[in-house]
Amino acid sequence: MRNLHNALLLKQLQVLKDLGYQYTDITPSDLEPEPVQLPDDLESLRQMVEKCHLCDLSKSRHKVVFGEGNPKADLMFVGEGPGATEDSTGRPFVGRAGELLNKMIENVLFLKREEVYIANIVKCRPPGNRVPTPTEAFTCRPYLLKQIELIAPKIIMTLGATAYRYLSNDETPISRVRGHIIRTEKYLIVPTFHPSYLLRNPSAKKQAWEDLIKVKDLLENSADN
Ligand code: URA
Repeated sequence: MRNLHNALLLKQLQVLKDLGYQYTDITPSDLEPEPVQLPDDLESLRQMVEKCHLCDLSKSRHKVVFGEGNPKADLMFVGEGPGATEDSTGRPFVGRAGELLNKMIENVLFLKREEVYIANIVKCRPPGNRVPTPTEAFTCRPYLLKQIELIAPKIIMTLGATAYRYLSNDETPISRVRGHIIRTEKYLIVPTFHPSYLLRNPSAKKQAWEDLIKVKDLLENSADN
């Protein structure tokens, strides 16, 4: 939350400066920001995120890609960030990688896309599909964490290195961590490869399919919980 606090504080200072206020000496305790309250319902959170200008990605985006799916999903997918098709439609995973993700959901998990929830680490497209910078990822992270809190999934499948790294704060390479089950207080994280990587490296699909089967078993065994 720290980055979001600091960014909001900076924005407020800029507004005051534009109004003609001048900087003056203040004691450090006056600088302690009020905790930023994010809305406690998904729709209000979406409206807030759609107006977000806290990082540079907001300057080049066409649409904010908040996320979509079942707001009470047991399973959530978290990707890296929107690509070109997502940026123009405002929906996550609707390009080529999305087509593969749909197949993974339907043909391996035997679920419908509408039954799960799909979101990303950053909600706006990084130009040229580059990897989000740490500042961008950490600025956007509180939104994702609030989504997770509200949806309360049992399992989160992270797609690719960036999603795993910024959700878990763990820098273990994806090749070593994929398919592991990471227990957190509220949910399990199961990292797997990103569908775009699988499109470029079809031989890795076998491992991704094994990870999905693991998730399917976990979901079935937690059905009555
Ligand atoms: N890649 C992602 O990580 N997320 C999307 O929404 C689309 C492609």
